[in-house]
Amino acid sequence: MQISVDYPLIGGTTGGGKSTALHSLLMSIVYKQKPGDVHLLILDFGSSELDVFAEVPHLDVPIVTDMQMGLELLKQLKMVMERRINLYVTNRTAFDDEAPIVCIIDEFPAFIGNITSGKGNRRNYEVVQDILQLGRKNKIHMILAAQDPTKESIKISTANITARMAFRCAAKHNSRVILEHSGAESLTGLGSMYFVSRQHVGLKYLQGSYMHEKDIKKTLRELVYGAYTEVEPIVKHLGVSESDFDIDIEASGTSNDPEDMTDDQLLAEIIMLAFRQGELSNNQIQNEFSMGYNRAKRFETKIETLGIIPRRKGQSKRHRKTIPTCLEQITNQNVIKLLTDNNYTLQDISNAIREGLSNQQGQ
Ligand SMILES: Nc1ncnc2c1ncn2[C@@H]1O[C@H](COP(=O)(O)OP(=O)(O)O)[C@@H](O)[C@H]1O
Ligand SMILES: [Mg+2]
Repeated sequence: MQISVDYPLIGGTTGGGKSTALHSLLMSIVYKQKPGDVHLLILDFGSSELDVFAEVPHLDVPIVTDMQMGLELLKQLKMVMERRINLYVTNRTAFDDEAPIVCIIDEFPAFIGNITSGKGNRRNYEVVQDILQLGRKNKIHMILAAQDPTKESIKISTANITARMAFRCAAKHNSRVILEHSGAESLTGLGSMYFVSRQHVGLKYLQGSYMHEKDIKKTLRELVYGAYTEVEPIVKHLGVSESDFDIDIEASGTSNDPEDMTDDQLLAEIIMLAFRQGELSNNQIQNEFSMGYNRAKRFETKIETLGIIPRRKGQSKRHRKTIPTCLEQITNQNVIKLLTDNNYTLQDISNAIREGLSNQQGQ
């Protein structure tokens, strides 16, 4: 059976299979579509289970984990949408050429609760509601995931949601919020779900597919990374001015030029910098290696997924302390390989970490 999930709400209790379903959805997108033919935005306020996709070239911006950044991104998305609405009227051919945007928000209730709480935040709520209402017609697809959603926690009107996937729910009322029917409270879990969409009458029982994280990584490595060149993002503004994006070009032409280095060499240099400093920030990468915010952010995210700096949580600091306190604590062997491939000895790495540690303690 072919199912259409162009605008789904995915809900259920912990362990029901939401993240697995999101993995399958993402996998089917990045596997079949070229970057640029679809633009991905991932906002993950949950337990970082979407990190496996942090490196896919379809992402317009690195995975967003900060709620205020998420809000900024949605404001941008709304501007893109308004441009498209205008285009639809004035230049239909150009509209038809616009690529679809898929925006995934994991732990949607936590996000909407956060950005709409407090005085004067009514407008933020409207940003989300407007995108939900008009996005689909303008090739902007929202995928919302929620753990045990309630009417109060989800806040928005679900009238515009065209597909609903309910995994095992904690209680009847959670099932009703997702499906407008009870029933999902008695599912058995492990990817079994009830599905409702405009194409079908009533509830459909489906079994979701499952792909182990290890296999996702392997498939991405073999079929997705490197298979495509980087594309110009549609949504790129994340609290930085336009001029910040030009740094790359302006800073070229010096000797020992970062532009002459491969991405692997640069990554090795940035990791060594982080070790020596005992910390890393986006600004430091920008300054030391003459690159723009977005590019620096990509390296930062990479270094984060390699386990060298902690994942950004909520409103965390700009500077993140490095995690390993000795060579043995570098858990990802690719890091050692990368550094030794780039002519650093184990002794160099060990010394750099020690230097960083004393910097941390000196603060
Ligand atoms: N479709 C599926 N088939 C088989 N096992 C599944 C499936 N979906 C989930 N599981 C199992 O259940 C576990 C929890 O699923 P997960 O997607 O992490 O739940 P949630 O995100 O809703 O908390 C997974 O680690 C996996 O072992
Ligand atoms: Mg999950």
